[in-house]
Amino acid sequence: MASNFQAVKGTRDFYPQEMRLRNYIIDTWRRVSLRCGFEEYDAPIFEYLDLFTVKSGEEIAEQLFSFTDRGGRDLAIRPEITPSLARMVAEKINALPRPVKWFSVPRLCRAERPQRGRLREFFQWNVDVIGVDDILADAECIFACVEALREFGLTPADVEMRIGSRPLWTAVLDSLAVPTERRDDVLALVDKRFKLPEDAFDKLLAESFLNDEQTSVIRDLLSHENVTVEQLLTDYSGRVDIGQTVERLSQLLGYLEAYGIAEWCVLDLRVVRGLAYYTGVVYEAIAAGERAVAGGGRYDNLLQVVGGPAESATGFGMGDVVLGILLDEKGLLPADLASESLNFFVIDAVEGVFPKVLDLVARLRKGGFSADCHTRRQNVGKQLKQADKRGARCSVLLSGNDLRIKTMASGEETDIDATTFLDDPGKWLQ
Ligand code: HAM
Repeated sequence: MASNFQAVKGTRDFYPQEMRLRNYIIDTWRRVSLRCGFEEYDAPIFEYLDLFTVKSGEEIAEQLFSFTDRGGRDLAIRPEITPSLARMVAEKINALPRPVKWFSVPRLCRAERPQRGRLREFFQWNVDVIGVDDILADAECIFACVEALREFGLTPADVEMRIGSRPLWTAVLDSLAVPTERRDDVLALVDKRFKLPEDAFDKLLAESFLNDEQTSVIRDLLSHENVTVEQLLTDYSGRVDIGQTVERLSQLLGYLEAYGIAEWCVLDLRVVRGLAYYTGVVYEAIAAGERAVAGGGRYDNLLQVVGGPAESATGFGMGDVVLGILLDEKGLLPADLASESLNFFVIDAVEGVFPKVLDLVARLRKGGFSADCHTRRQNVGKQLKQADKRGARCSVLLSGNDLRIKTMASGEETDIDATTFLDDPGKWLQ
């Protein structure tokens, strides 16, 4: 019978089958994080509203699920975890061993218009390094991102790591006399380049406060996809001083080469990122159809903005939604995501021994094995069918003190007494 209620649009129910996929993705993220030397943290699912509006930019502020609590406090459910991370690290900065290399898999909510790949509730893997000014920290995060993509079975043909530079954009916008306070607006506009059809973007640009020269230079910057540092120097060093920026970019490319992931990465000035706190190199992992699987960059001012010391920081977030769609499209979801198999299904082969069944189930569970039995007695044949459906590796047929172990895969049966069986139940699972 259908329920009178439906799940809210843009949210997901995780029935056991979907839960297995979610766990597969999150377990893989965790494994890669630990392998790369990151430690796990978490933060509250709601915070003071201000934390999310102070420097994240208009787009995310518009997508907040916010509310006033009974004490009149303005709060919001987290749309991202980076501001919470900055708050947490700023609070304990002197007590934390450096560098801070942390990861988290928060559940996030954004009041977006739900569409394929964008939901209103999702999971996002976050990997961040705080306290390292060297661009090596950015390379380290990009490596972790690529390592996870690779672990899922994806290749550079499936996902491209596009690397852009906010300082280069800032320098060019300054040279065009775009007022500092309007810079974030321009970058937010540029970020819409891939979120809108081309003519809609052109219209936005034409209708913005930018003059013809500014618009034309911005268009030129946007034509710099898949560029080399040499080309950047040729095209822009006459206009602005980008020596240091380009030097850092080539250092980054050197590290990525040394890490063996250069084939995943391209320099692409079209990437600026939508969040306002980024200050340095920025990047997005893009799949066919311009779908962003992950995005991040350097945000050296955020700790200060939330009241902490000046501290360099860099990192990225990877969502589970686009990733799940991509893995499905590429046939990369493991076939054995089938149900967690049960070790033993205990069957009462004769009537009147159910307390012994429960005792055996309890002993097996205590010994670290998964074990279960029926909830309503049926004949042995039906119980065996149930064991099979539950994916049990072995059925244990109990009558008195004697047991019959049936290995479900081979159908082989062995009689054994209960004490001997309980000495080493694991033997039957090999
Ligand atoms: P973001 O670009 O807003 O960055 O999100 C990163 C990734 O999260 C996106 O590429 C996408 O895969 C996923 N994502 C974002 N919004 C949604 C949505 N509504 N539905 C499904 N998936 C979504 C950040 O959140 C930054 N805080 C990342 C970061 C960490 N930067 C530095 N450290």
